[in-house]
Amino acid sequence: MAEQLPYSEKVMQHFKNPKNVGEITDASGIGTVGNPVCGDVLKLYIKVENDVIVDARFKTFGCGAAIATSSMVTEMVKGKTVGEALKISNRAVAEALGGLPPIKMHCSVLAEDALRSALKDYYLKQGKEPPFKDKPHAHDEH
Ligand code: FES
Repeated sequence: MAEQLPYSEKVMQHFKNPKNVGEITDASGIGTVGNPVCGDVLKLYIKVENDVIVDARFKTFGCGAAIATSSMVTEMVKGKTVGEALKISNRAVAEALGGLPPIKMHCSVLAEDALRSALKDYYLKQGKEPPFKDKPHAHDEH
């Protein structure tokens, strides 16, 4: 009997063949975050030109859902302005993947936190105050 995995096909695609794995040596912003729920770690790099994110890459010591959400979030931010990227929530990333099992929603929080941390780093490197606080909205973990 074939084992029924609780993941969508898109999650499995991004898990098996993640996009944008690696680092950007001349990154405009780097975000490193640990997941308080499981202890997994994600490092996310962004390259910004004229306020547009032209490249994004990641490295993670995380589970399959962390790999899939990191892959998806790096795909989602490319071509977006910094302001647009700020609005991407963990739920939007999970939805773009066709959903995550409730027990795995915390993994998508890692992707959102790493993105915000990279954007904050970008602002600080520009000598600007980030236009948000560290935890501007409650994550949707369910
Ligand atoms: Fe740690 Fe998914 S279990 S990020």
